Amino acid sequence: MNRNPFNATRFLGYVNEVTPQKVSIHIPSAWLLSQFRIEGETISGGNVGEYVAIEGERYGFVAKISSLKLPDSERKALSEKAVNDEGSQFHPIAEAELLMSFKMADPQAVEKTASRFPEIGSRVYAVSAAYIQMVLSADNRRMVVTKMPVVQLGGLVSNGVPCNLSLNALFGRHCAVIGTTGSGKSHTVSKLLYALVEETGNKIVILDPTGEYSTFDDNVAVESRIMGQTCHFPYRQLSIADLFYLLRPTAQSQRPILAQAIRSLKTVALAKRQGDKTLDSYIDEQGCLKKMGMEKRAVRGFQYKNINAIEDEYCSFDIKLLGFQIKAECVFESARDNATQRDDPSRWGGFDVRMNDYQASLKLRIQELLASNEFNALFNFKGDQPETSISAVDLFKGFLADKNKRVLRLDFSQTSSSFSAREIVANAIAKFLYNQAKNKDYLKSPLVLILDEAHLFVNKRLLDADQNVIPLDAFDLIAKECRKFGLFLCLSTQMPRDIPVGTLSQMGAFIVHRLINEQDRRTVEMACSSASKVALEYLPALGPGEALITGVEFAMPLVVKVSMPRYRPNSATPQLSVKQEG
Ligand SMILES: Nc1ncnc2c1ncn2[C@@H]1O[C@H](COP(=O)(O)OP(=O)(O)OP(=O)(O)O)[C@@H](O)[C@H]1O
Ligand SMILES: [Mg+2]
Repeated sequence: MNRNPFNATRFLGYVNEVTPQKVSIHIPSAWLLSQFRIEGETISGGNVGEYVAIEGERYGFVAKISSLKLPDSERKALSEKAVNDEGSQFHPIAEAELLMSFKMADPQAVEKTASRFPEIGSRVYAVSAAYIQMVLSADNRRMVVTKMPVVQLGGLVSNGVPCNLSLNALFGRHCAVIGTTGSGKSHTVSKLLYALVEETGNKIVILDPTGEYSTFDDNVAVESRIMGQTCHFPYRQLSIADLFYLLRPTAQSQRPILAQAIRSLKTVALAKRQGDKTLDSYIDEQGCLKKMGMEKRAVRGFQYKNINAIEDEYCSFDIKLLGFQIKAECVFESARDNATQRDDPSRWGGFDVRMNDYQASLKLRIQELLASNEFNALFNFKGDQPETSISAVDLFKGFLADKNKRVLRLDFSQTSSSFSAREIVANAIAKFLYNQAKNKDYLKSPLVLILDEAHLFVNKRLLDADQNVIPLDAFDLIAKECRKFGLFLCLSTQMPRDIPVGTLSQMGAFIVHRLINEQDRRTVEMACSSASKVALEYLPALGPGEALITGVEFAMPLVVKVSMPRYRPNSATPQLSVKQEG
């Protein structure tokens, strides 16, 4: 196959203007733009979206045509016949965006750079499909892996050249799949998921908010669990911060009391676990820590001795007691000695009615949460979940240890969105994986965490009772810190503007389907520096399954038509029906 991009039969024109981003090409005759066939392949001259090669002295360049026009002086003479005629007297001007360069001595060694430019007068050629294919695979070859896993994503929109992308290049620095609803994100994710299963030996966890990926369940390598039915996240494994998200205490009067109550209950739980008797007289018949009128010293001493366990981040206490303990916390800081009429700071004082009144909404929220069967099934508050519902922590441990299981699908379709439970559970799972990654568990064999409809999980607008933004930051931390630890994030969303910019800007690869909303486009533009503005201009015009692919590991942005995945996600839009007569 002839891989030289410069072939006289494909000559298109000359460079007549160079700016940092673009070159302008003078085309001596409009006739050169028409499609033709050589050596069995169709070369579509120089239409918008096509690739061209520019022949410099030492360096050659690949560029993509972004606009085409006639000089003003020629526009008046325009007629359909005249433009396409052989020997046409029209001289169109094309603008093309520079994508990459290569040494003239070695056209196969492509480089992505903005520091070299073609000279005025350089010759421009339409490039063949084979050359583009070569560039794509050369790009893949840069990865230092002997046999590289690839995904056969589909074909280039402009000329159908098959597009095989390195999975390392896609996932190695996290990946975002973006597009409006119905643009084909889930199909693309399904395609990627299948490629990961077939081509790599790695494990994949997918958080599936709507149950769309249940079509994968008949694959033996897939373990599938429905959150709140066949899997729960034990509340004792939630962090104290997670519990605060669920309960949303007001900052001034509820937050400190809640923190105190948690500390007291952890103290009780720890004393029981250690068989320590010193606090026995403090523990009431329910199991709460009594404070009213009690000496502080023994409690303080015990807490001081066990400070690490009591201040650790987990909810290792009996949550059923939380409402009662909050009431027990509502005491004055110092007792009053009746005889001397002096404050006695060594003991807690009497019941503080006003403080207790302030806790009403918090206690109500706790009651509501604990009484709901749905939340009990999700967090196992009552410790009564049947054996059919496994703890997420055990599930992960089993999944990671089982050689035959490759994909863990966690189905959130039954999970309530009230109390922000879905976000909190997803965040807790992400935190769990984050901790494992930091523990170097995935260094040898990276794990890919896929998050479909990420805006449902990574909601940057979650507010607490005082309207402060709550940072549910586990995904953010993964994006920022976990690449080196082998935990790769792949998130798909229709609302990039709802994803924290910090998370989005860590993404090394973008697969952007049709995107109409101006604000979303701007968000993507800000996040992916490598995609030039010109490439992003195609976004509103893309059809279903068509996507712009860009990223640090790719030599140039590509517009690809993604082919149908083996397992189609379950996402068909229900159809309106014709009215039945009679
Ligand atoms: N690669 C493709 N080729 C052809 N058609 C496609 C392709 N991908 C998706 N479609 C069509 O677009 C429809 C929507 O696809 P999909 O559910 O993947 O979109 P989505 O972006 O995930 O939407 P949502 O945001 O609603 O989840 C599909 O039903 C399918 O008919
Ligand atoms: Mg979808």
